[in-house]
Amino acid sequence: METQVDEIAAGVYRLSTFTDAVAGGFTYNQFLVAGDDALLFHTGKRLMFPAVSAAVAKVIPLERLRWVSFGHWEADESGALNLWLEAAPNAEVAVGTLGTLISGNDQAIRLPRPPMADGEVLDLGGKQVRWIDTPHVPHGWDAGLLFEETTSTLLCGDLFTHTGAAPGLTENDVVGPAGAAEDLFGATCLTAGTAPTIRRLAGLAPQTLGIMHGSSYRGDGAAALHALADDYDRRFQASLGATGSNAR
Ligand SMILES: [Fe+2]
Ligand SMILES: [Fe+2]
Repeated sequence: METQVDEIAAGVYRLSTFTDAVAGGFTYNQFLVAGDDALLFHTGKRLMFPAVSAAVAKVIPLERLRWVSFGHWEADESGALNLWLEAAPNAEVAVGTLGTLISGNDQAIRLPRPPMADGEVLDLGGKQVRWIDTPHVPHGWDAGLLFEETTSTLLCGDLFTHTGAAPGLTENDVVGPAGAAEDLFGATCLTAGTAPTIRRLAGLAPQTLGIMHGSSYRGDGAAALHALADDYDRRFQASLGATGSNAR
């Protein structure tokens, strides 16, 4: 198992591990924001830790890791958390309110920092990340995302998930491939709030999307998010129709 490193925006690194065991080809990506206080977004699964930590060590000494953050509690997002906390003695968990209070205070070997409020900015020294609550988007009531403000990079977690041996960065369409993966996995929680939450993210007008499964995207992030929201609107409406016909 080897983890590839690509700088997708200045000082923002995608760490990518490919497996052919899922959907014929799938990537698990973490993102390292290399401020003076470095932040890792997503931990990877425990079995990936040797490969992913070796990849981080190519960019910064592991001891420089100050924050470990992720979009929600789930094996690929948070599974290796305690291995990171052991390897980086100064690192603390930085996630939102529900994630901290429900899981973080119980699961982490060191107490997390106080919860990140919706819209709160964490100054990393040369980089700054804003936490955005996105409950149930794409899944998990504790869900949230990070926006790196100096590079206009949205670390958008499972949103835009697509399969394949994805290169580090693409300027090609990521909405169509995300729809194909949604057809395959059904991973997103479809509610009346799904599309509006994604449209709220479009207001950030990101120039780069750090996608957890697939290539990162450079281009008009707002347009991509609006198109993704439209696709979820369509899916939500279709699910209402399906529910109605079942009820009859
Ligand atoms: Fe997830
Ligand atoms: Fe994921």
